[in-house]
Amino acid sequence: MVVKCQIFPSAEIASKALALEIKALIHRRAVEGKAAVLGLATGRSPLFLYEELVRLHREEGLSFANVVSFNLDEYCGLDPEHPRSYRTFMDEHLFGCIDILPENIHVPAGDLSPEEIGPYCRAYEEAIVKAGGIDLQILGIGRTGHIGFNEPGAGRASRTALVHLDDITRADAAADFGGLEHVPSHAITMGCGTILESRKIVLMAWGANKAEIVAKAFDGPVSDDVPASYLQEHGDVSVYLDQAAASELAAPVAVDQKTACFTGLR
Ligand code: F6R
Repeated sequence: MVVKCQIFPSAEIASKALALEIKALIHRRAVEGKAAVLGLATGRSPLFLYEELVRLHREEGLSFANVVSFNLDEYCGLDPEHPRSYRTFMDEHLFGCIDILPENIHVPAGDLSPEEIGPYCRAYEEAIVKAGGIDLQILGIGRTGHIGFNEPGAGRASRTALVHLDDITRADAAADFGGLEHVPSHAITMGCGTILESRKIVLMAWGANKAEIVAKAFDGPVSDDVPASYLQEHGDVSVYLDQAAASELAAPVAVDQKTACFTGLR
């Protein structure tokens, strides 16, 4: 199987290229009279992407009225209005700035009782199937190699579930929460199996602190020590990198004349 690693001059340029792909998908689906089903991530990696999608909406009239979205994950113990919830993040950076219909937005709930979680996770999976499956899943990568919040050890076939967050992941979130002690210990995440059912996947990683895990995930063996490495087996995965995040990947790469970025198939 092939993972296409594309190395762009900057995260902004890469994000603009991805925004254009999403625009084309939305238009294609609209012509077919269908919804475009997007799988969405939070965190720093998609910030430029969301900024560009909002710009396309405001300045170029791109409508999200036929978009259905499913977010990857949510921290447990936070209600949707909590300032650090992923729901709040999405409202601030994307949903509140575009014309997506509220009923088409799905972000896992973080405020469920223990008895509610199992049925809720199954219903989340069913909603994805009912929407026709995810056309394009956007991912970041954690320094543990997680995708969504599927930490090392998560099986390739895992489904949407309650998971325990790795110490490195919690440490990386500590500044946002004003201290490690405030970072939730658990989250609900789409499983690796759920993510891998998406028709197309784009993973974004920027900056030198992602270089080591990017090389492990895409130059190393497929292993449950690095859940992102499962993407090697998918068949339609693109990895969008800036030069710093790509700096530990093995050469060679070729310059893509059309996008002016370096492309390496792995
Ligand atoms: C977020 C998510 C995570 C992040 C990853 C990278 O919804 O599922 O897997 O994509 O932790 O985070 P950033 O982009 O902040 O480096």
